[in-house]
Amino acid sequence: MRGSVTVAIDGPAGSGKSTLSRALATRLGLHRLDTGAMYRSVAWAVLQQGIDADDREAVAEVARDLDIEVDDRVVADGTDITEAIRGPEVSATVSAVAANPAVRAVMVERQRRWVDAHGGGVVEGRDIGSVVLPDADVKLFLTASPEVRAARRSEEGAEAVARRDRLDSTRTASPLEVPEGARVIDTGAQSVDQIVEEVVAWL
Ligand code: CDP
Repeated sequence: MRGSVTVAIDGPAGSGKSTLSRALATRLGLHRLDTGAMYRSVAWAVLQQGIDADDREAVAEVARDLDIEVDDRVVADGTDITEAIRGPEVSATVSAVAANPAVRAVMVERQRRWVDAHGGGVVEGRDIGSVVLPDADVKLFLTASPEVRAARRSEEGAEAVARRDRLDSTRTASPLEVPEGARVIDTGAQSVDQIVEEVVAWL
């Protein structure tokens, strides 16, 4: 069964998606895709080119033209931007970029192609269980208290994180929500190993 397993992980900022998706991918021998890194890459390119993040058509064009490789390192049009996409400028801009339906259409298509090419995988983001992989073998929605999430994103700051969550949850195009059939997990209440074993038992 291994080769074709798909795990969808969604949740707000600092809910523990990256930690859990890494651990699950290792445990299950699957590849992992961080879709947030793809939206961050588009935001990085928008800033780099001095484009207004609210200019929908210009931003969509950037998304369509940008070559993005997301693995251990994140490389966009040949530039390693692994560290740059975690900076405050990109974090402050990414939600506006991700609210653009044309950007989402391009990214969703690429994410589905990635899953096909890798024969399944652990995919994390905001719309994975709801839009990208509605038929995933297991769908997880991660939560944690605002205090725990803010502490995990202390470099970004609690206010900036709250703003990003608000924008992501209230946008019209694929807002962050608990997907139908998802299991909700409070990552502040159990260890990563415990959650991994619980998820493996659900498969
Ligand atoms: O890791 P963190 O929760 O801080 O954020 P991320 O997963 O890197 O995602 C950054 C931003 O990309 C989010 O705040 C969303 O605006 C956007 N995003 C999205 O709209 N859809 C996804 N599938 C993944 C990320």
